[in-house]
Amino acid sequence: GDESAASAALLRWYDGAARVMPWRIGPAERAAGARPDPYRVWLSEVMLQQTTVAAVRGYFRAFTERWPSVEALAAAEDGDVMAEWAGLGYYARARNLLKCARAVAAEHGGRFPETEAGLRALPGIGPYTAAAVAAIAFDRPAVVVDGNVERVVARLWAVEAPLPGAKPRLTELAGRITPAARPGDHAQAMMDLGATICTPRKPACALCPLAGFCAGRMIAETLPRKAPK
Ligand code: ADE
Repeated sequence: GDESAASAALLRWYDGAARVMPWRIGPAERAAGARPDPYRVWLSEVMLQQTTVAAVRGYFRAFTERWPSVEALAAAEDGDVMAEWAGLGYYARARNLLKCARAVAAEHGGRFPETEAGLRALPGIGPYTAAAVAAIAFDRPAVVVDGNVERVVARLWAVEAPLPGAKPRLTELAGRITPAARPGDHAQAMMDLGATICTPRKPACALCPLAGFCAGRMIAETLPRKAPK
């Protein structure tokens, strides 16, 4: 239906509006067939769980300068990694990060598996990270669903059923607009849209590339609904 037109409009918007981030590559490099480094994609996705882009930037730079590859990180001392992580919080993430780096180095010759299932089999990689790395680093049509994506999708299809019950439905709908081509750009476009236009409060619908496709536009600010505790 409209999904392919919506996805095309979103990608066109992303080509002009993508936020510049140290783990992304630019549109010119992409057009030339370049891919982002899977190590950097994975590291950024782990850091971005429960932490804002603004807070992650400096830590990402420090980590990648000190440990420029997954093998370098795998060889690091636990204490050095924990010290570099200090301030990011959720320290289990740092311990899992090291476990995963060591598994990639020891069992995969330093190369990340390219499929969602292969990534899922690594220690400390959950469904979100597996989908994000598969899509962004390896161009696999994985469906990447974080809080931003749930909000965009709930609005696009005017899903009034509340979270958390609506999650499977939102995941299914997220899959419907995930294109076979450029799934990684699509995933990051959904995240950027959620962070800059389709915001929780006062969404900027007048600037939204999906406004013409959006069933929830009139009630956007009330979505997604949340079940009372
Ligand atoms: N949040 C989590 N992953 C992200 C990414 N790749 N780009 C922007 N925001 C994100």
